[in-house]
Amino acid sequence: MIHITGDTHGKFHKFWTNEFPEGQALSRNDYVIICGDFGAVWDGEAYQELLLDSLAEIPFTILFVDGNHENFELLEKYPVTKWHGGKVQKIRPNVIHLMRGQVYTIDGSTFFTMGGAKSHDIQDGILEPDEPGFDEKFWRMRRMRMLFRVNHYSWWKEEMPSEKEYEEARQNLRKANYKVDYIITHCAPNDIVDIIGGGMYETDPLTDFLEEVRTTVDFKHWYFGHYHDDRQIGQKFSLLYDEIIPLE
Ligand SMILES: [Fe+2]
Repeated sequence: MIHITGDTHGKFHKFWTNEFPEGQALSRNDYVIICGDFGAVWDGEAYQELLLDSLAEIPFTILFVDGNHENFELLEKYPVTKWHGGKVQKIRPNVIHLMRGQVYTIDGSTFFTMGGAKSHDIQDGILEPDEPGFDEKFWRMRRMRMLFRVNHYSWWKEEMPSEKEYEEARQNLRKANYKVDYIITHCAPNDIVDIIGGGMYETDPLTDFLEEVRTTVDFKHWYFGHYHDDRQIGQKFSLLYDEIIPLE
């Protein structure tokens, strides 16, 4: 059984019994996929290790693509292994990061994954922690409720894929003959971004790349997160946030 849901941002209340009772009947061979912004590889503090340990008590296996709100410097430290045909990082035995540009075969279905997204909560800038007057600037911006983040603490340039990752994705799609059952991403292709934002959301190199995927790859269904809503777009696209739904 495979379920799928949207951003968790390090908070997993939706997996606990009363909100997802079906979860209790699942086993480690059942999966719940998170469409990015997993958020529990964040500051590496002891409480977070305990949180990850508590996820290891959950009866099912959690799979996640990365979003824009992950600590990519910490995430990079986890060893890369091969799992179901693609590269993964095991955060816990049942908490697995599905890496960018991979194709996996899970329960007889194929999945193409491409995490990452451009943050849209940074319009007031990215602060450098070692810049002169950082503390004063940080607290002033915070008081003014400005939308900013701090490099290496709450924002990482690796939120956007590298050229190497795009190339790996293209190679793996070529190997899969441009046909997969499911596509799992954090952000959406241009065409869908325009529909969600009513033309108000900006596109970027990743949404451009996903648009290329949308127009060249044969797929059954595409699931994504990032835009913090639960919404069906046409027959083939599902934007997920709170809902946990079985795979179509
Ligand atoms: Fe998010």
